[in-house]
Amino acid sequence: MTTVLVAGATGAVGSALVPALRQQGFEVIPHVRPKTADRHPLGRDPAALICDLSEANRLDPAMARVQAVVCLVGTMRRRFGAGDTYASSDYQPVVDLVAAAKRAGTAPHFVLLSALGARPGGGYLGWKHQAEEVVRQSGLPFAILRPSFLDSTRSGSQPSDGAQRKPPPLLGPALRFAGQLPGLRGFADDVRPIPVEVLCRAIARILRDRAPTASVLTGRQLWEAASL
Ligand SMILES: NC(=O)c1ccc[n+]([C@@H]2O[C@H](COP(=O)([O-])OP(=O)(O)OC[C@H]3O[C@@H](n4cnc5c(N)ncnc54)[C@H](OP(=O)(O)O)[C@@H]3O)[C@@H](O)[C@H]2O)c1
Repeated sequence: MTTVLVAGATGAVGSALVPALRQQGFEVIPHVRPKTADRHPLGRDPAALICDLSEANRLDPAMARVQAVVCLVGTMRRRFGAGDTYASSDYQPVVDLVAAAKRAGTAPHFVLLSALGARPGGGYLGWKHQAEEVVRQSGLPFAILRPSFLDSTRSGSQPSDGAQRKPPPLLGPALRFAGQLPGLRGFADDVRPIPVEVLCRAIARILRDRAPTASVLTGRQLWEAASL
């Protein structure tokens, strides 16, 4: 049985991914921040790892048990008031998780949820790119996922901030239409919103295959992985 550490388990994707993976036979260790444990159902999960990711003495024993790590950690500008920043939520947790994975010496498959458009520079997409670089340089087998918009409305997810992820209303239908035009299918699949349950199926597939490694996957590959 594959054991997976899910960081960002209390988010829109994570809270749907944890039960989806368990349903498929994975053993899951959901990571939960101490400040969230009291107000999220996963804080009462018997398998939960409740600590800050900077606490190496708590993270290392969990990391030693896993064959894969899924990092879904991140924040949004509207949550900066609660103390998170892109540096502390989208970058530093990846540094901490990669360091622990390397210390474990077991080369867990590292799956990082990044974002379409990640590129060198500032802001959200710049921090996402820096986090990707940490994973690319880690020497671990990895898959970096770059979805565009997420739609959690039918996924049963329970994001800790209480807000389902909803793409702009007409975007999905417009891009589905564009995808039928010659030559536009790949682009449309990259950009059109991905339901969280589809993304969860793709992640489960990637974990089961332990592949790809050393790859960046955009929407077109994620939709395909979910359909296999
Ligand atoms: N939403 C979109 O349309 C979209 C599109 C493309 C990519 N993405 C990326 O996909 C990922 C998942 O998105 P989502 O909407 O599921 O995110 P989310 O609901 O905002 O969840 C973020 C998760 O990260 C955790 N977290 C934040 N800072 C942390 C820290 N310093 N240490 C440990 N955990 C921390 C949160 O924990 P708490 O519950 O304790 O706050 C929560 O579990 C994110 O990286 C996001 O950037 C999102």
